[in-house]
Amino acid sequence: MILITGANGQLGQCFRQAASQWPGQTFVFAGSAELDVANRRAVRTFFRSLGEGKLDWVINCAAYTAVDKAESEPAKAKKINVLGVENLAIVCAELDVPLVHFSTDYVYHSRQNTPFRETDPVSPKGVYARTKLAGERAALRAHPSTMVIRTSWVYSAFGQNFVKTMLRLGRERDTLNVVADQIGSPTYAPDLANSVLQIIQKVESGEIAKSTLAGIWHYANEGVASWYDFATAIFEIQKISCQVCPIATQEYPTPAKRPPFSVLDKSKIKTAFGLEIQHWREGLRRCLRELG
Ligand SMILES: NC(=O)c1ccc[n+]([C@@H]2O[C@H](COP(=O)([O-])OP(=O)(O)OC[C@H]3O[C@@H](n4cnc5c(N)ncnc54)[C@H](OP(=O)(O)O)[C@@H]3O)[C@@H](O)[C@H]2O)c1
Repeated sequence: MILITGANGQLGQCFRQAASQWPGQTFVFAGSAELDVANRRAVRTFFRSLGEGKLDWVINCAAYTAVDKAESEPAKAKKINVLGVENLAIVCAELDVPLVHFSTDYVYHSRQNTPFRETDPVSPKGVYARTKLAGERAALRAHPSTMVIRTSWVYSAFGQNFVKTMLRLGRERDTLNVVADQIGSPTYAPDLANSVLQIIQKVESGEIAKSTLAGIWHYANEGVASWYDFATAIFEIQKISCQVCPIATQEYPTPAKRPPFSVLDKSKIKTAFGLEIQHWREGLRRCLRELG
């Protein structure tokens, strides 16, 4: 049995959608109303309610993801992104259940301009990024075999994300200013969900040892883009005539700082699990087809 926490969020809903392609697996989806990860007693009670020895995997999609709002709500961000993750890790360790957890490219913030490897130094700026890094560390401390996947620029047909915002604004306006000096890799959330389920399948089939999962991993779609490139591609594919104007980060101030470059090197996860990852433009095409 695979438990998905934070199941009503963007990534959680992609796991829900992907689950139908894994008929051999039993999934339990728990949104924040069913399971508040920040409450350790609730986590323990919920896990036990699934039946002794029934739970095989926990995939944590619960998170505080409001990057700018986190600057004024640090306690709330910490409660979910650090204590919540620690609670899951502690209870998973007690039950010897593997935990898959997601983190962010925003843990990197430096002058580096080549893809970050998992071993590169981190320097998170802002409350969201710092709490996500603290959450990774809390998980690995409490349950050293946790698989922590740092991902970036996540979008899908679900929830609020850059693609959906651009589609709305592009249809309302003739021109749009979009930041062109932040470089990263967009990640189509269904690709991430399917890759995690493939990894689980490979571990369950014995093809890959469970012990391989432990530690930090990077996952994003192939290719790099600025937010300007990403917006331009959305409008090109959807034939939206809105003109995109490239601007500098300083012309679009936000409460939380974003890294100027956060491309993730994915060699480690591709090699270890034999994953094939598509280019972000391909993911974008599929997302736009799904949105209709
Ligand atoms: N989105 C991105 O661009 C991006 C980029 C890099 C990494 N990530 C990481 O990817 C993961 C998934 O992100 P996402 O885009 O799916 O985020 P999301 O859409 O904001 O979903 C997060 C979910 O967590 C739930 N949640 C919040 N507090 C909770 C609690 N105490 N107990 C249980 N659930 C709780 C929320 O439920 P409520 O709405 O009911 O509060 C929400 O459904 C996160 O770890 C995020 O940090 C995301």
